[in-house]
Amino acid sequence: MNNQPTKVTLSFDNGNAPIELPVLAGTLGNSVIDIRSLGQHGIFTYDPGFMSTAACNSNITFIDGEKGLLFHRGYPIEQLAEHCDYLEVAYLLMHGDLPNAAEKQRFTKKITGSTMLHDQLNNIFRGYRRDAHPMAVMVGVVGSLSAFYFNNMEILDPRHREISAHRLLAKVPTIAAWSYKYISGQPFMYPQNHLSYAENFMYMMFATPCEEYVPNPILAKAFERILILHADHEQNASTSTVRLVGSSGANPFACISAGIASLWGPAHGGANEATLNMLEEIGDASRIGEFINRAKDKTDSFRLMGFGHRVYRNMDPRAAIMRKTCHEVLDALGLNNDPLFKLAMMLEKIALEDEYFVSRRLYPNVDFYSGIVMRAMGIPNTMFTAVFALARTAGWVAQWSEMHADPQSKIGRPRQLYTGSQAREFLPLDQR
Ligand code: CMC
Repeated sequence: MNNQPTKVTLSFDNGNAPIELPVLAGTLGNSVIDIRSLGQHGIFTYDPGFMSTAACNSNITFIDGEKGLLFHRGYPIEQLAEHCDYLEVAYLLMHGDLPNAAEKQRFTKKITGSTMLHDQLNNIFRGYRRDAHPMAVMVGVVGSLSAFYFNNMEILDPRHREISAHRLLAKVPTIAAWSYKYISGQPFMYPQNHLSYAENFMYMMFATPCEEYVPNPILAKAFERILILHADHEQNASTSTVRLVGSSGANPFACISAGIASLWGPAHGGANEATLNMLEEIGDASRIGEFINRAKDKTDSFRLMGFGHRVYRNMDPRAAIMRKTCHEVLDALGLNNDPLFKLAMMLEKIALEDEYFVSRRLYPNVDFYSGIVMRAMGIPNTMFTAVFALARTAGWVAQWSEMHADPQSKIGRPRQLYTGSQAREFLPLDQR
């Protein structure tokens, strides 16, 4: 909206006095109408899916979906993905500025020094079925950290929040890698603190005690990029979940576990796994048309996974970077003729030219490409969303901490439009 107003007036067709509402301006992007006083007039707003509602103010991430912009603390994602490692981006999200050399060294040491899990957590892993989905294991094991870290935790104390954030950043990769090791029947590999954050995760995923494992630098760089591109994304479903759960003062490990649960859904972080499953189901270029037609058919619930985004109505800037990384990785591994990759490229081309997708501005999103990169790296489909979760942990902890630092923050408690029965009299069993 150009020329943002400073106030709006709500008028009523039943003779009630108009209500004047202030308009709050942000530093970038749309202003918002401050409707907090409406409740005092007995009026509420209706906005399923929060299509038009800002639930908080935040300094962390800015998205302009029309222009395809994504900034963290003011820095364009393209620059961060090009020049930073994941822990620098995590530091930026948490602290507001990029670290200088000494801060980076201290932060990296702090995180890599906390990667081990309490030994008793091994028993919790072993309680899961061997064929459990890694995300099911992650929801439970990350949540169970709340049983280990609860004493002397004062979430209104910034230092206590920082300690929890460090623990989460350090331990979630170990939990993610071990959820894979557990289901594949391999021994847990303990973190190696001399490795980078990305290399260490690859080590814990792929190494075994039988052989030396040296992470491939091209794959480690691509993996680092996946982590950076997924680190934060404003008030998406899982981040809003973390904030909502946290708003009651809940334990931070339980809050992040709730975020992981939300992320798992195929409309959100589960899309990378769903995309690869879909490509495998399509199987051959001759079947692309059939699946495109299904995606357009309103009587069929099927959607083209990895396409569309609630906020980006132009290209997702993360998708553009991930698309480039995808080509780099496949080139480096000599996988350009991989049939599934070729199929993905054909699907991308057809969908980008199809009137249904063009008119609805449905472009491939970051998960369309990240799944292909992870598959090329040898990460199994079921681990894709777990990787997303470990990357998003940086955003979750930053947003959770920001919420607790905000004096305006309140317990999240939406209202509803009630459409059920009116008041009625109870009837005893023999009269119903
Ligand atoms: N395939 C076919 N049609 C689609 C798709 C799709 N992937 N996405 C949206 N549409 C259609 C939808 O049917 C609707 O059509 P119509 O106007 O005729 O009723 C129109 O496009 C608008 O869709 P919507 O459901 O109102 O849009 P939304 O903003 O609520 O949903 C979305 C966004 C991401 C949930 C949706 O596009 C989708 O389900 N995509 C597939 C799953 C996916 O790739 N998700 C990953 C998102 S990126 C990772 C992340 O940040 O979590």
